[in-house]
Amino acid sequence: MPRLGLLLALLIASAPAFGQDRRSDEHSYAQPDKVRIRDLALDLAVDFEKRQLTGSATLGLEWVDPAQRDLVLDTRDLAIAAVEARNGKRKFREVPFVLAERDERFGSKLTITLPRQYEQVRIRYATSPQASGLQWLSPAMTAGGKTPFMFSQSQAIHARSWVPLQDTPSVRFTYTARIRTPATVMALMSADNDPAAVRDGDYTFSMPQAIPSYLMAIAAGDLVFKPISARAGVWAEPQTLDKAVKEFEDTEEMIQVTESLYGPYRWERYDLLILPPSFPFGGMENPRLSFITPTVIVGDKSLVSLIAHELAHSWSGNLVTNASWKDMWLNEGFTSYVENRIVEALYGKARADMEFVISRNGLLDQLKDLPPERQVLVLPMRGGSDPEDALGAVAYDKGAWFLQFLEQRYGREDFDAFLRAWFDAHAFQSADSDQFLAFLKSNLMAKRPGVVSEAEVMEWLSAPGVPAFAPQTASPRFDAVDAARASWLEQRAAARELDTAAWTTQEWVYFLEGLPEILDAERLVELDQAFRFTGTGNGELAQRWYPLTVRSGYFEARPAMSLFLRKIGRRKLVMPTYDALSKSEEGLAFATQVFAMARPGYHPITSASVEALLARARAAQKTPD
Ligand code: BES
Ligand code: ZN
Repeated sequence: MPRLGLLLALLIASAPAFGQDRRSDEHSYAQPDKVRIRDLALDLAVDFEKRQLTGSATLGLEWVDPAQRDLVLDTRDLAIAAVEARNGKRKFREVPFVLAERDERFGSKLTITLPRQYEQVRIRYATSPQASGLQWLSPAMTAGGKTPFMFSQSQAIHARSWVPLQDTPSVRFTYTARIRTPATVMALMSADNDPAAVRDGDYTFSMPQAIPSYLMAIAAGDLVFKPISARAGVWAEPQTLDKAVKEFEDTEEMIQVTESLYGPYRWERYDLLILPPSFPFGGMENPRLSFITPTVIVGDKSLVSLIAHELAHSWSGNLVTNASWKDMWLNEGFTSYVENRIVEALYGKARADMEFVISRNGLLDQLKDLPPERQVLVLPMRGGSDPEDALGAVAYDKGAWFLQFLEQRYGREDFDAFLRAWFDAHAFQSADSDQFLAFLKSNLMAKRPGVVSEAEVMEWLSAPGVPAFAPQTASPRFDAVDAARASWLEQRAAARELDTAAWTTQEWVYFLEGLPEILDAERLVELDQAFRFTGTGNGELAQRWYPLTVRSGYFEARPAMSLFLRKIGRRKLVMPTYDALSKSEEGLAFATQVFAMARPGYHPITSASVEALLARARAAQKTPD
């Protein structure tokens, strides 16, 4: 009996806290427990006229289950011409395949029936002009206006729309590629881009470090290079290059700071690719080549925490990867924490604290509208859900807050060493929340008993909301903003009398966020005359100012607002204004009109989000409650 008790206690202690099958990925048809892609060789032609990639993908396979014969892949809207297989260097022979009916969220399961466990499978295919992971821009939509442009955005589950593969972050593979384009176009990938490459329309790439599918990336256009340091630089259209290099000149220092905290940068080069303004995100951490929105180039480096963020993913995310999207906080929460450490090291604690306060206010705001089950870091397994649902302040900012809590309790020396050990121990692997919890227990909690309780950790990971014992961040610079805002609101001072000369983007963001939901339009006129918000080139301000003008009936801002919504396709920046507009019948009509004009320039991801929002608003206005 006592032995059984011991066994039971051991079993309970080692049982995964969050459920047996946490590593499984409900967003992929692949069966990585049976067979895994180890290597990929792409051979693709970029056809700007047809808006198509055409060619082949050759997959090098590792068979895990000796009884397995089928190879199941993820695809979305691919036209499959043929599938072939071979061993070694023998001749490829055609094999049968079945492409299942398309699922709206997950695409079409491709089942390849193999007579034996072949080492290589080659798929000949073409992408659809509507591929969810690609955007095709006509020359008019670029800065130069002469050369077409295309780029991919694979995260979360869009790699399958341009490469047939196991589209799950739990599988890693190396890749090579040959990419052909028109001769005037430069092609780049998340691989060994050569700063000195000759532009001739025929490019080869190699990515010797194994990466998950969502980090597959390609871009092609009139792209030129300028170095920041020996291993870092910027790719951009010629019109944007110099401004970008200036704005992001601290990138090398960011790499060095992160290395000193968490160990060597393991990906050789780190370059930035500046995309056209339709890029739907702020940034995307494609390995060796982060994709970056041009909207953060505001001239004063005030938004470069985006670079710190994408760079940080070289450790948290690209090196140690969430095993499935329900553990996205392991990517984004860790990265947001590391981002803030980089910002602190380069630009000081006052700036880092302001950025934390802004993020946390955003989190607390989002929590108000989220059902409790979506307020947790360790999300339950929900088959069929959209992985982009996990994209929100919880994974990012609650995740970072939790790590800051651990840092403050254990002290920087021990916590930094712990985080570095986590990256080292799981380098080039995927990890889930259970592994993190076990690692935390044995490497920090057991060594420093009594500092943090298991109940506290579980509250961070599995309870909704933010724990009452979460560390608070004070910001004297924001206190000054509060005082200035109050004196204007209480009409003790006119807008132009406020002492704003030294304010940075962060103070302005905080100023705008603290204003009442609605103000008299005359008061907005006063603000606008003093501070010129309408027409601002700073998207972080525009994103907050325009909704306020909508709610307050300040119609004079409409032309500039419309321009902003048509020029910028970054989802986070445009959604709040569409949202504010959609609250009234008149606003919804205006939004619908602007969207119709903007849509041809938007990425499918942004179009889908705006369309869904407007459709919901229309439905709500038809059936008022
Ligand atoms: N990896 C994300 C972008 C992403 C997440 C794309 C999930 C698709 C699905 C990237 O690192 C990111 O977080 N970008 C942020 C910027 C950041 C500073 C918070 C963005 O684009 O806003
Ligand atoms: Zn990120």
